[in-house]
Amino acid sequence: MLTKYAVLAATAAAAVTAAPAQKRAAAGQADIDIVILNYALTLEHLENAFYRDSLATYDAAAFQAAGYPEWVRQRFVEIGGHEKAHVDFLTTALGDQATAECTYNFGVTDVNSFIATSVLLEGVGESAYLGAAQNITNPAYLTAAGSILTVESRHAGWVQSSVQQGDGFPSAFSTPLNFNQTFSLAAPLITSCPSTNPALPVKAFPAATVSGDVCGGKTITISGEGVQSGQFAAFLTGLNTYYAQIGDNGSVQVPAEVKYGRVYIVVTSGQSLSDDTTIAGPAVADIPLSAGEAEKIYSQQQ
Ligand SMILES: *[C@@H]1O[C@H](CO)[C@@H](O)[C@H](O)[C@H]1NC(C)=O
Ligand SMILES: *[C@@H]1O[C@H](CO)[C@@H](O)[C@H](O)[C@H]1NC(C)=O
Ligand SMILES: *[C@@H]1O[C@H](CO)[C@@H](O)[C@H](O)[C@H]1NC(C)=O
Repeated sequence: MLTKYAVLAATAAAAVTAAPAQKRAAAGQADIDIVILNYALTLEHLENAFYRDSLATYDAAAFQAAGYPEWVRQRFVEIGGHEKAHVDFLTTALGDQATAECTYNFGVTDVNSFIATSVLLEGVGESAYLGAAQNITNPAYLTAAGSILTVESRHAGWVQSSVQQGDGFPSAFSTPLNFNQTFSLAAPLITSCPSTNPALPVKAFPAATVSGDVCGGKTITISGEGVQSGQFAAFLTGLNTYYAQIGDNGSVQVPAEVKYGRVYIVVTSGQSLSDDTTIAGPAVADIPLSAGEAEKIYSQQQ
């Protein structure tokens, strides 16, 4: 894996302009643009297959039976078209180094679980591009990544508000995820990939499962392989990370600063977050703005 990584990095370094590469080299960072583009393409293949295959399964009648009008399905067809466009764009940019589509198990059992998975994936796409931004060397790729990420985030917002009739309201800052955190959320959906695909230097952490209402001040339960009391739950919200110690039976009090929007929860060995301190996760929670509002109104009434 490391060898392949070095080969890809060297190829990428040769392919892009020298100036930004030198700047990154001075900062001690290799040019890994080809790796990042293939990582992005891995996620886009997953999203493209998700919409294509799910929409082939659930026709207009299935949407109608689940309570959604025809236009909702049509918008999902449109979103699927965007993901296909992202796949085509990245595949063209990578040429013969492009990674190919894998086989997947999205765990979708009906229209509503399709819709919920759509929100999950669009939000993860947004966080993945955001987290990778700092590692991109070529400014043109950075613009392309930014151009894709705003669309992914608006897909999620549309589904949460127009389709799920929630508020889908973002907090002031979106939440970045690094490569291994993102891959940990994608890997469980990937069944197998062509052996000819380039190996990515990523690994998946054990899954973390959260039960209860994730909202500042409330107590939730977190579990997963290797998760023990005394460890910490790191709550990633916007550009901040807040920690709470895990008590008996995985109980955690959600820090008051965790208010609304997309939140990721990672179990860590201490109060610092890196791949080295990660035990399990991320788990994903989308907290509606109205959840906090309701809480506020409730506490004012006390
Ligand atoms: C991405 O950049 C961050 C910040 O400089 C660095 O810590 C991280 O190791 C980089 N990731 C990779 C895969 O190079
Ligand atoms: C992600 O995991 C891989 C495989 O274990 C590791 O080589 C890499 O350093 C990790 N990435 C970061 C940014 O730590
Ligand atoms: C932890 O869970 C066990 C098994 O359900 C239960 O017997 C015990 O009372 C729990 N401990 C606490 C402190 O809640």
